[in-house]
Amino acid sequence: MKQLLRNMYVDNKRILLRCDFNVPIVGGNITDESKIIKSLETINYLLERNCKIIILSHLGRVKTEEDKTKYSLMIVKNSLERLLNKPIKFANDILSEETKNMALNLQSGEILLLENTRFLDIPNNLESTLNLDVAKQIASLGEIFVFDAFAVAHRNHTTVVGIPKYLPSCLGFLVEKEKAMLDKIVINPARPFTVIMGGAKVDDKLKIINSLLPKCEHLLVSGGIANSFLSALGLNVGASLKTENTETIKELKKLMLTYKEKFAFPLDAIVTTTYSDTPTIKNINKIDTNDVIKDIGTKTIDKYSKIINESNTIFMNGTMGIYEEKEFANGTILILNTLKEKKDHVLIGGGDTVGATNTLGFKNVFPNISSGGGATLDYIAYGSLPGIDAIGEEDEIEVLDL
Ligand code: 3PG
Repeated sequence: MKQLLRNMYVDNKRILLRCDFNVPIVGGNITDESKIIKSLETINYLLERNCKIIILSHLGRVKTEEDKTKYSLMIVKNSLERLLNKPIKFANDILSEETKNMALNLQSGEILLLENTRFLDIPNNLESTLNLDVAKQIASLGEIFVFDAFAVAHRNHTTVVGIPKYLPSCLGFLVEKEKAMLDKIVINPARPFTVIMGGAKVDDKLKIINSLLPKCEHLLVSGGIANSFLSALGLNVGASLKTENTETIKELKKLMLTYKEKFAFPLDAIVTTTYSDTPTIKNINKIDTNDVIKDIGTKTIDKYSKIINESNTIFMNGTMGIYEEKEFANGTILILNTLKEKKDHVLIGGGDTVGATNTLGFKNVFPNISSGGGATLDYIAYGSLPGIDAIGEEDEIEVLDL
């Protein structure tokens, strides 16, 4: 078993805590603080043990100097100060002497938040390309590393997998819980195991579809993913979103041949046309060249609901249609209603799907919601993640010399 925070002696220590504060920001405001709120359990635990806490996190995708103006963690500092009701120190330059002095002079119960780790990527990708020299330098700020950033555990980044090479390390409460939930529900699923896979681009999900098909009994598809499969089968999906990548299309055909009996495709769809926004329901073999598929139809809802009702584990990643528009939210709402009946056996994963459950009236309905997008999918597909693998086992604490 991986070393866990609850089993480590951390009292009065300088803790380097890797969080995921990659929160959505619109118009300069955080629109959803849940990632910050979820990290409070670990932070409060460390505060209760008089630790000196140095927090690291990424925010956004930082590719240019200009991105730095959009993605400063200052906004998270303000939010954390309010949530914890205490002042927090902030260091602008992770690798500077000044930051090192701030870290080494922290008093018990004080928190120092370091600026966005992805700022290290400008100009030399020091975060996103695993850099052990930088990892070692950051590790020298703390005495123990706590990894509590599940959603970024699939990244082979300096502050994810590099730092634990140089410090005694453990998993924080958020990662411990998330991992336990995924292990219970989808790593050894009660059968039949059904996967619902929606979303715009099949190319992005091909890897996960490939690895899930041997593990599940049913794969229900929707959205751009379904269109791509249907088109590869030779059906006309009109002007709907689908892949044009010939390699992907070949792969889709191969998958359908190999796992024919596992696939469930839409029987009908709600469409508009390229010249009219009026929704119409059509059988899936009657789609015209100008039609644009926006949601699943009633026959599909019945077919998918029947499979869900007969399943003992269901993993939902992706919605049925363009749920953000009211006329095309029905498929997703009715499928979520069916899932509600089996809520203890359902795992909802991925930012968009979690967002849909919240906005469509299912907030707090499902007990098993995974905060990671790519990390959740990779964990389900491969059963491991670099960020978790980097943490030692309970009884083997071995670190490189600082
Ligand atoms: C997420 O929000 O999924 C994580 O913070 C990872 O972000 P990334 O996809 O930019 O690495």
